[in-house]
Amino acid sequence: MSSLDAALAGTRFQSYLYAYPHKTAYRRIEPALPLGPLWQHERRDALFLYLHVPFCEQRCGFCNLFTRPVPPSELIDAYLGTLARQVAVVRRALDEGGAFAFARRAIGGGTPTLLDARQLEQVAALFLQMGARTDTPMSVETSPETALPDRLAVVVAAGADRISMGVQSFVDAECKAVNRPQKAADVHLALRAIRDSGVATLNVDLMYGLPGQTAETFAYSMRAALEYRPEELYLYPLYVRPLTTLGRKGAAAVDQHRVALYEQGRAMLAEAGYRQISMRMFRRVDGPDGDHAPVYCCQDDGMVGLGVGARSYTRAVHYSSEWAVGTHGVRDIIDRWVTKTDAELGVADYGFVLDDAEQRRRWLILSLLSDDGLDLATYRARFASDVATDFPELAELGAFVTTTPTTMRLTADGLARADAIGPWLASDAVRARMEAFDLK
Ligand SMILES: C[S@@+](CC[C@H](N)C(=O)[O-])C[C@H]1O[C@@H](n2cnc3c(N)ncnc32)[C@H](O)[C@@H]1O
Ligand code: SF4
Repeated sequence: MSSLDAALAGTRFQSYLYAYPHKTAYRRIEPALPLGPLWQHERRDALFLYLHVPFCEQRCGFCNLFTRPVPPSELIDAYLGTLARQVAVVRRALDEGGAFAFARRAIGGGTPTLLDARQLEQVAALFLQMGARTDTPMSVETSPETALPDRLAVVVAAGADRISMGVQSFVDAECKAVNRPQKAADVHLALRAIRDSGVATLNVDLMYGLPGQTAETFAYSMRAALEYRPEELYLYPLYVRPLTTLGRKGAAAVDQHRVALYEQGRAMLAEAGYRQISMRMFRRVDGPDGDHAPVYCCQDDGMVGLGVGARSYTRAVHYSSEWAVGTHGVRDIIDRWVTKTDAELGVADYGFVLDDAEQRRRWLILSLLSDDGLDLATYRARFASDVATDFPELAELGAFVTTTPTTMRLTADGLARADAIGPWLASDAVRARMEAFDLK
């Protein structure tokens, strides 16, 4: 493990560790594991059901998510057909282990609302076939061009209580500079449509560190977003990643600029009555769920992922389809996925098997990067040892962490450096696999 000082000296903005192990640490699992036995002995009373829509109206220059721009309509139809088969296969596998229940659901992407209202109805029906209920909380991602009233109405009728939209900036030139042709006028229309849909929680994503962005223009975008009083707001640093359009152009993001904008954004949000939940996430204190809304307990609860690009997590096995960023890599994987047989959909054949040490590390990382921090007694009860004994390197965190008799938590300064601290905590084995990953 490299020292924390070295990690922080490199840059505060290394990468977003929203999952551990990272998907670039996934490899082929041989022999493939049948899903029935895999899920049989899991805690199954609070599962997360995630469905991935790997399509968008464009490919933004910063985006390394698993998505293909402007898909032909036959591909969308084929995708929905394979999803329906996958639902039948996965449902049967879960049924093998008896009762199960979903605590949350989400449709993500890509841009799920690239699907039209009829296609979104099909997706909603798939959730019911999986055994989710219409009152199971559901989050749906959307974009300014596709947040159309009839599409929003379908997802709200299907139980969506949260709609999340990428805005990035209210300055058209800043969006254009990152290959996201977007008009602020459309963003306003979309935000009004989401408010009119009656959904309880609106989330807005903004980015800082965009080319040409200044303190003034960032403040302008922040104020424009805050006009809609979103219940949640995410602030994303601009990352320039391999094989993205910006990455291929060799664009560079400037750390110092981002630090200043981030601090400015944090201050504006505090002033506007938002509480910081994680490095990126802020929640309106007087929103419907206010200060108390639970964040999904990703350390403990299993995730059932549907569709290509979706990940699934049991306690010891994380699995998914393969992952790529470049145009051809993504296309190949989607094209192959839609022709999978039921037998192929019924196994985990690509992913990461977590031994006991990796399970402990995952628990540590996900807990520490969350606002709630790490509950020391829960860790002890689960792993029969103390987190400080298992991970002596935590001592290096010094002033970035506070430890009480019950909890270990990042301080505000620590949270602001979560993108350096997260990757630093990865095991040597995971880091080696990530470095050796052949990104397509
Ligand atoms: C699935 S999109 C949101 C919905 C919709 N596709 C859109 O762009 O409006 C995910 C969000 O992640 C954020 N993001 C930050 N860094 C990103 C990256 N490197 N690749 C993709 N998305 C990133 C963007 O702010 C984006 O709004
Ligand atoms: S940021 Fe959103 S719209 Fe842009 S390519 Fe990524 S998923 Fe698609």
